[in-house]
Amino acid sequence: MAVVTFVSHDGEKFDAPLKEGQSLMQVAVNEAIPGIDGDCGGEAACGTCHVVVDPQWSETVGLSSPEEEEMLSMNPERQPTSRLSCQMAVSAAWDGLTVDLPEFQM
Ligand code: FES
Repeated sequence: MAVVTFVSHDGEKFDAPLKEGQSLMQVAVNEAIPGIDGDCGGEAACGTCHVVVDPQWSETVGLSSPEEEEMLSMNPERQPTSRLSCQMAVSAAWDGLTVDLPEFQM
């Protein structure tokens, strides 16, 4: 089974099974990963699903959309590989993906 690892700002790791057909935000919420709220339900309108993708994976998971960029641009914790996890459609090829969780969500 493909697995993603979420890493909290203080280094705690949470593994979750990747399920194709879901967004990475849905994976996190289903597994009760702390720090991913997904308040808008995946509409790229709240920013509470912000993750920072391991740079080694950024090409594999793809770039953010213009809509995503608009929301991320308002986030003071934004990093070069930041994504909104609700806009990341899970692929089985992401087995081993690691994403960092910001200390605070918007
Ligand atoms: Fe709201 Fe991703 S869940 S922006």
